[in-house]
Amino acid sequence: MVEKTGRVAGKVAIITGAASGIGKGTALLFAEEGAKLVLVDWNEANLQMTANEIRAAQGSCVTITGDVSRLETADRAVQAAIHEFGGLDIVFNNAGIMPIGDIVDYPEETWDEVMRINVKAMFLMCKKAIPEMLKRGRGSIINTSSVMASLTEPGYTAYTSSKAAIIGLTKEIAVSYAEREVRCNAICPGWVETDINVKLADSMGGIEKLYPIIKQQQPSGRMATPREIGYAVLFLASDEASAVTGSVLSIDGAASAAI
Ligand SMILES: NC(=O)c1ccc[n+]([C@@H]2O[C@H](COP(=O)([O-])OP(=O)(O)OC[C@H]3O[C@@H](n4cnc5c(N)ncnc54)[C@H](O)[C@@H]3O)[C@@H](O)[C@H]2O)c1
Repeated sequence: MVEKTGRVAGKVAIITGAASGIGKGTALLFAEEGAKLVLVDWNEANLQMTANEIRAAQGSCVTITGDVSRLETADRAVQAAIHEFGGLDIVFNNAGIMPIGDIVDYPEETWDEVMRINVKAMFLMCKKAIPEMLKRGRGSIINTSSVMASLTEPGYTAYTSSKAAIIGLTKEIAVSYAEREVRCNAICPGWVETDINVKLADSMGGIEKLYPIIKQQQPSGRMATPREIGYAVLFLASDEASAVTGSVLSIDGAASAAI
């Protein structure tokens, strides 16, 4: 059990993909740490479950149901932060999808969908969030990329491309606003215990098919938990990371260090 850190106490954070996995784990952690949250996801039922868990533990949150790849969803989230909680300090751009398939057979529409949800959505959220952060004179944006931005294997056609693009976007935001104290960093998780990998395992014929691959690719020999990823996001969101911007943080059990 890690003690509370107070790193985001009283801060207002938007978290996308908060209905499941890394987004949910980070939302629960941020709520425990005293942040006021705007939770965004298109899975209404699971989003309400996250919100109910937070409220049952006396945390503070509102929910926005919608597709993150639409500007209108970003606008509603930022407006909710302002009207419910008085401003915006942190954005965790985290929602993402991972349909796999060989390049030759990969449907053009699926490519567009992955790029829209994994990359364009982050641009749209930043478009709406950064002006509010500039008004406050500070802000922290954390974008979820992946170890697969730089290391890949056959089948991750649009996913790897989208995760590499996120790193480019992150650096562009960081250099554009560094002088005005709006920071932007990317995280690159390796294998994490979430639904995205349950879906992958289903497509491979069962979760036991995944374990040998994880052991081979990730020297830690295990998946990280969503909460472990959340602690890295917590640091990047905090004032203790005030000089950290434009960085790309691996959270991958040494996967990216291995041959
Ligand atoms: N799990 C891993 O091993 C791993 C590793 C590296 C990076 N990631 C990244 O972490 C992020 C979170 O994934 P996760 O593993 O927690 O998966 P997950 O499937 O558990 O959660 C993703 C969440 O995003 C939501 N979402 C997807 N598309 C959306 C849209 N258009 N609008 C609104 N909500 C949408 C889903 O409903 C879901 O709640 C993703 O960007 C993923 O690529 C995951």
